[in-house]
Amino acid sequence: MSLYAVEVKDLFKVYDAKVHALNGISFKVEEGQAFALLGPNGAGKTTLMRILTTQIKPTSGEAYILGYHVERQSAQVRRLISYVPQEMSVWTDITAYENLLIYAKLFGLPKEERSKVIDRVLEDMDLKEVKDELVNTFSGGMIRRLEIACAMLIQPKVMFLDEPTIGLDPAARKRVWEKLNQFKNEFGVTIFFNTHYMDEADMYADRVAIINNGCIVVSGTCEELKRSLGGEMIILHLANSYTNLDPLKKVQAVKEVYMQENELRILVDDAEGSLPAIMEFFRDTGISVKRVSVSKPTLEDVFLKYAGTKFESAERISDVRRTRQMFIRT
Ligand SMILES: Nc1ncnc2c1ncn2[C@@H]1O[C@H](COP(=O)(O)OP(=O)(O)OP(=O)(O)O)[C@@H](O)[C@H]1O
Ligand SMILES: [Mg+2]
Repeated sequence: MSLYAVEVKDLFKVYDAKVHALNGISFKVEEGQAFALLGPNGAGKTTLMRILTTQIKPTSGEAYILGYHVERQSAQVRRLISYVPQEMSVWTDITAYENLLIYAKLFGLPKEERSKVIDRVLEDMDLKEVKDELVNTFSGGMIRRLEIACAMLIQPKVMFLDEPTIGLDPAARKRVWEKLNQFKNEFGVTIFFNTHYMDEADMYADRVAIINNGCIVVSGTCEELKRSLGGEMIILHLANSYTNLDPLKKVQAVKEVYMQENELRILVDDAEGSLPAIMEFFRDTGISVKRVSVSKPTLEDVFLKYAGTKFESAERISDVRRTRQMFIRT
């Protein structure tokens, strides 16, 4: 029997006998892979991660980390994993170095190794210069990098990251992912993460699963999922929002239609051949089209199709920033 880094069988979680957060989830993650769980707010991502990291119990179903049962063998599981939670996990009234030292002691790193390992993760997460500053002077992005540094103090077999790069600027996100990737390749660490950045999943995940309302609706490699939509995407920027999509769906060659704000995305088999009919439709209905472009379906389109909503990343990121800022001030 081959051993999976993560194996989940028919997992259910009901909070307070009424909130159905997970509704029968099953999947496997192979060792050494990066696996991204994508889903809208409230889909159940954090709940799943908290079960896999032994913090909460499922209502029913089973989950295993490298063959160890997360409920019955939780102590063994905890020795194999590290976790960057969605909420803040460092102390703000001490320095970055002191935080890392506390985690190093908690992880049981031998005394003589601690300072070398701490220096390495400070370097990796670009925090060397500020290691002796109080964390309450840090930006949200610096705090996130410190939290990731804490999780990299040990070489876990499986690393769980709940929105690891939220609030980081593009350069910091790239740096963090380069280091995580290096970590994965060097030590064979399995990386299980959530993200609200589609490009991140597309670039760094070996496989992705989309979760919606507590169910996995689709999974595969990014390429497989994009290909599964088939065809090409015609993207129209309209002068105004357009709400009734039904007549457009009746136009020949139109396979799917998604509207977000003023951007209309139309899936067709052949963009060049379908454009005249689509443009004629808009001329007849008097809706003015400002710009037209064509692309292959993206992971964002896959998400729109299966989750029925666009990633709310911009709002989401500012929400998290605000919440973290509040934490720092209190
Ligand atoms: N401790 C709790 N008690 C009661 N309900 C909860 C609890 N934690 C989560 N929920 C509910 O369970 C559902 C799934 O929440 P969860 O936090 O797992 O979603 P998520 O996918 O991580 O969302 P987000 O993208 O906002 O982080 C939501 O309806 C949420 O309100
Ligand atoms: Mg969450």
